[in-house]
Amino acid sequence: MPLPFLASLYFEGLPPWFPEPLVALKYTTAAAALALTKWYTSGRLNPSERKLHGRVVILTGGTSGIGAKVAYELASRGAQLCLLTRQPGNDPFLVDYINDLRSRTNNQMIYAEQVDLSSLYSIRQFATKWIDNAPPRRLDMIVLCAATLTTPGHARTETEEGVETEWMVNYLANFHLLGILSPAIKAQPFDRDVRIIIPTCNSYIGAPKLEPELVGDKKGYWSPKMAYARSKLALMVFAKSYQKHLDAYKRPDQLPMNARVVIVDPGFARTVGMRRWLTRGSLWGLFLYMVFYVVAWLLLKSPNMAAQSIMFAAMDGSLLRGTGGKLIKECMEIDCARKDVEDEEVAKKLWEESDKLVEKTEKAAAIKRAREKKEREEREKVEEIESLVETIKKGKAKEGGKKKKAEKAAK
Ligand SMILES: NC(=O)c1ccc[n+]([C@@H]2O[C@H](COP(=O)([O-])OP(=O)(O)OC[C@H]3O[C@@H](n4cnc5c(N)ncnc54)[C@H](OP(=O)(O)O)[C@@H]3O)[C@@H](O)[C@H]2O)c1
Repeated sequence: MPLPFLASLYFEGLPPWFPEPLVALKYTTAAAALALTKWYTSGRLNPSERKLHGRVVILTGGTSGIGAKVAYELASRGAQLCLLTRQPGNDPFLVDYINDLRSRTNNQMIYAEQVDLSSLYSIRQFATKWIDNAPPRRLDMIVLCAATLTTPGHARTETEEGVETEWMVNYLANFHLLGILSPAIKAQPFDRDVRIIIPTCNSYIGAPKLEPELVGDKKGYWSPKMAYARSKLALMVFAKSYQKHLDAYKRPDQLPMNARVVIVDPGFARTVGMRRWLTRGSLWGLFLYMVFYVVAWLLLKSPNMAAQSIMFAAMDGSLLRGTGGKLIKECMEIDCARKDVEDEEVAKKLWEESDKLVEKTEKAAAIKRAREKKEREEREKVEEIESLVETIKKGKAKEGGKKKKAEKAAK
């Protein structure tokens, strides 16, 4: 009971187990410092609110980390979600994930399309299917949360199509997807608030210049960190020029283009990607991560808090004013820390070189697919003939056996 305790405090002073005033002050200061650090590193909550009923959103990376929180937030506000996932739609884990998301958000309009962002072919298959629809499908938002990183200490990898993995998934996939979806964005009515949200990472600040080698990377001059930072820098340069590309479009109704690109830095968060980076993909790393989890908890945001700036970009009305291509961090607009993000010459060259890389890679992949198809068909033909010959042989042997039996019976 507090009353006897308060009375004893009044008459007898502090109890013997209470720390000395100085010690108490020390602990209080430490606790306050920790609380302040946690409050600061958690970041800002999104102050905007908006219903998203009926809005159609394409989302990449919506199955993990920040993207999964964005998927939840969008779906719980009524948006129709088209998740682009690496796994096929009938993958049992994906089916479970979508069913769970549907029931938690009370929103049945969530489905998945298989798109492997490490394959230009897979992206083209999805995006051409989307734009082939007549009349053009409604599209309100594209959120590009998917990303990959090579863990420190690991070797450079390439996709099956021969592009460096981080460059492909983090940059070229988005370049290719938005390039093909461009007509679908331009076809939206003038009064539709269309947003293309591109998460980046502040590691772009330390990235080496995109020039002189704009796409790809010098093989002897590669590190996981640099490749990731460089892919994010390229993504930001592209985001700015994609906004200009949309702005330059002359609509048939002569009204201005209303689509806006928003770049978002969500801040560092405790996601699967971040854990892989910190643990270097090793069991020892994972063990240390678990032992020192409190440090990660203190210094890194939760995925939910990291999703706040993306939700701000998806919902805030202020972003409708002025030009697109803004950079958002902690739910507010900030300036880019590098001038070359705005450099038109770099952007133009990057676009041209990326186009060339896509064309070259797609051509080589198409030739490889055609060759494999031909080989498969030839193999199947040979197998068919062999099985036909086998069946005829068996039939003949059977007939021979029957004849012999009949001859025996006749004797
Ligand atoms: N976490 C941070 O501290 C931090 C900091 C700054 C910026 N960001 C940015 O925020 C975004 C989300 O980060 P995160 O940490 O939440 O990511 P994450 O947990 O690593 O999740 C990455 C997502 O991308 C998907 N993905 C990867 N490769 C793919 C492929 N080839 N095809 C299709 N999907 C693929 C993954 O799908 P699976 O589930 O199938 O693997 C997963 O859903 C990223 O753009 C990241 O760069 C994150």
